[in-house]
Amino acid sequence: MTETRAAVLVESGRPAPYAESRPLEVSGLRLDPPGPGELLVRVGAAGLCHSDLSVINGSRQRPLPMALGHEAAGTVVETGEGTEFAPGDAVVLAFVPACGHCERCVGGRPALCGPGARANGAGTLLGGGRRFVAPDGTRPNHHLGVSAFAEYTVVSARSAVKVDADLPPEIAALFGCAVLTGAGAALYSAAVVPGDSVAVFGLGGVGLAALLAAKAAGASTLVAVDVVAGKRELAARLGATHTVAGGPDAVAELRELTGGGAEKVIDTTGVAPVLEQAYAATRAGGTTVTVGLPDPSAPLTLPALSLVAEERTLRGSYLGSCVPRRDVPRFIAMYRAGNLPVDALLSHRLTLDEVNAGFDRLHSGEAVRQVITF
Ligand SMILES: NC(=O)c1ccc[n+]([C@@H]2O[C@H](COP(=O)([O-])OP(=O)(O)OC[C@H]3O[C@@H](n4cnc5c(N)ncnc54)[C@H](O)[C@@H]3O)[C@@H](O)[C@H]2O)c1
Ligand SMILES: [Zn+2]
Ligand SMILES: [Zn+2]
Repeated sequence: MTETRAAVLVESGRPAPYAESRPLEVSGLRLDPPGPGELLVRVGAAGLCHSDLSVINGSRQRPLPMALGHEAAGTVVETGEGTEFAPGDAVVLAFVPACGHCERCVGGRPALCGPGARANGAGTLLGGGRRFVAPDGTRPNHHLGVSAFAEYTVVSARSAVKVDADLPPEIAALFGCAVLTGAGAALYSAAVVPGDSVAVFGLGGVGLAALLAAKAAGASTLVAVDVVAGKRELAARLGATHTVAGGPDAVAELRELTGGGAEKVIDTTGVAPVLEQAYAATRAGGTTVTVGLPDPSAPLTLPALSLVAEERTLRGSYLGSCVPRRDVPRFIAMYRAGNLPVDALLSHRLTLDEVNAGFDRLHSGEAVRQVITF
């Protein structure tokens, strides 16, 4: 039995400012030892992602109470039976556990693992269990098999990727969600190649990771779109060739800059009408990729004819269409070589007790990637 402090989402839909409404309660919990195929992990750092905010504000419904957080790096402390990990291993946690046996895992698409998605939906670990125990004996749900806003967490070994121990945890954590999702969207889902014109809508952690990866892949024209001026300035420093203010004029401006639309357009805003803009800003023959997770009730309206007559592709991208065990090490190697400088995404370092205020900063657009360090 391990004692840990953890941030538990007790109710969704409380109004911002969250520093006052405090939807996340930081308190002491106990953790059961890891079961078969599980790991007890000491969390080194955990990032704040918009997908957490969507659970907090209620646009994404999850079973509550839930120990929140899904982007993290840490160190294995104890292993259950039958894992290939050992105490002391440095790990990055991915937010879809991959069973390794289902049709999609075997087919090379672990981001769509069936048992992984079912466990994530139910708020359990891959094996079906819940390992946190509250003082009243109830068991909070796990968030995407990770529950990273905690000093210690128990995860399925199928959620973990072994990495080099010398990487600072606040950098390593970014690879678990922002980098896998953003870089994967650019390199795999959009398949950016040298000479492509690329536009990225939304310059949060995910969008800037997509921008950096598109640059690394050789995009010649690289347009960064956001409603927040400071994020456009950061994108320009990171290699965007042009920036465009998000809003009603963005499409016309983008079409002008790219001579009729970009070849690859990546939407990371999570706003359905912006995805419509991203589609409109894609040229004939081009590809629009979205990683945004809008409110489940939001519809999407597109000119249906254009899909065929202009041979367009519209692609959703979950976890960047990545294979975490292949791509976390691959993207870390790109970072080490200087080709994916994702440390630039890190805008704030927080303590666990500042987690609610951190979500105010994400909500307002002030922060890019904030990381809680332990
Ligand atoms: N597909 C996946 O696997 C996956 C993984 C992680 C996150 N997500 C989703 O990706 C999205 C981005 O996550 P994030 O953590 O980077 O979020 P974020 O809040 O940090 O970034 C979103 C950005 O979009 C910008 N934006 C909002 N409206 C805009 C508009 N009209 N025009 C241009 N820009 C606009 C915001 O200013 C912000 O900078 C979220 O929807 C999140 O839930 C998906
Ligand atoms: Zn995320
Ligand atoms: Zn599977």
